[in-house]
Amino acid sequence: MTVAGLSREVTQNLEKGSWIRKLFDEGARLKKEFGADKVFDFSIGNPVAEPPETFKKALCEAAETGRHGYIQNQGLPEAREKVARFLSERFQTEISPRHTVMTVGAGGALNVALKSILNPEEEVILLSPYFAEYKAYVENYRGRPVICPLTDSFEIDIEAVKGAITPRTKGLIVNTPHNPTGTVLSQKNLNELGALLKEAEERNGQSIFILFDEPYSQLIYGEEQANPFQAYHRVILVSSFSKDLGFVNAPVMMQRAVAKMDDLSIDAEPYRKRRDLMVDILTEAGFEFEMPKGGFFVFPKSPIEDEVAFCMHAAQKYKLLIVPGSGFGKSGYFRLSFSVPSEQIRQSRDIFKALYQDFSS
Ligand SMILES: Cc1ncc(COP(=O)(O)O)c(C=O)c1O
Repeated sequence: MTVAGLSREVTQNLEKGSWIRKLFDEGARLKKEFGADKVFDFSIGNPVAEPPETFKKALCEAAETGRHGYIQNQGLPEAREKVARFLSERFQTEISPRHTVMTVGAGGALNVALKSILNPEEEVILLSPYFAEYKAYVENYRGRPVICPLTDSFEIDIEAVKGAITPRTKGLIVNTPHNPTGTVLSQKNLNELGALLKEAEERNGQSIFILFDEPYSQLIYGEEQANPFQAYHRVILVSSFSKDLGFVNAPVMMQRAVAKMDDLSIDAEPYRKRRDLMVDILTEAGFEFEMPKGGFFVFPKSPIEDEVAFCMHAAQKYKLLIVPGSGFGKSGYFRLSFSVPSEQIRQSRDIFKALYQDFSS
């Protein structure tokens, strides 16, 4: 199947994955024809257990008391603290909230981690069989996946990894409990891997990360999860609540709430009023800009070429925070958001006037 306009890579993936789609379509057809309860669908790893009652209660409370709005990109401080404490106790290792980042699932975490560590052409070792998306995640950041097989009993084959390491090796993804085989890695095996990587780091003068992907860590039947921090010094632990608390892909609870709403439109009038007020103030002050027709930003021209200096001046002299255009790839401009309290906009009138005056000869 070819679809006009798609990239070669996506087209190839679609071709390669066509059997998956056929299977999926066939499953859907069977369910429709015979009823879902008559089809033995063992194909998808979708959690069956409901999240704990405490989570549901917390979610309701969050919905009632929580504010809608952006938070720090790294995540809510109290959530990071909770996760850091949980992990510190589990691994008997001090993990600070500063080193804990909330992501959209393990998939999101792996992408963020790979983006943070990979330079183009650097290699990440994937132990096969592996969760298929790893390959795409590595390629997302122009890294090179290097496939290295696990042993016949799906343990890490230390000799094979040794052979797969090159001076370009930047990381290795370890997944335990393992998708698709269900094996749980032993501490001994992990320690051996740690020792090997440490040696390779020293030999190559290159940092090598273990990305320890453990989204199923709470689903272990008798074994103990190995402690990666005991085995190695450069670990990015990746986990997920997708299997335990139920947010899969984009946070599923939000999607459920969206699905339950009668009408998804919102009233833009409060934003329009702010835009009009802001535009009036900027015009009166003397700034030049395109009239914003949507969103909640204005992008005026800086009265001086060096807009970074201009923004710095605004901050230092007037405590007025605006963003240099070069941050968006366009110097000589600055951006301001009018999604702020109307009173604040009203009070900024004299400030914008004075600011402009500072630079008009
Ligand atoms: C091994 C493994 N890693 C990562 C993920 C992605 O997890 P999430 O749904 O939390 O993004 C999955 C999902 O099935 C997985 O099996």
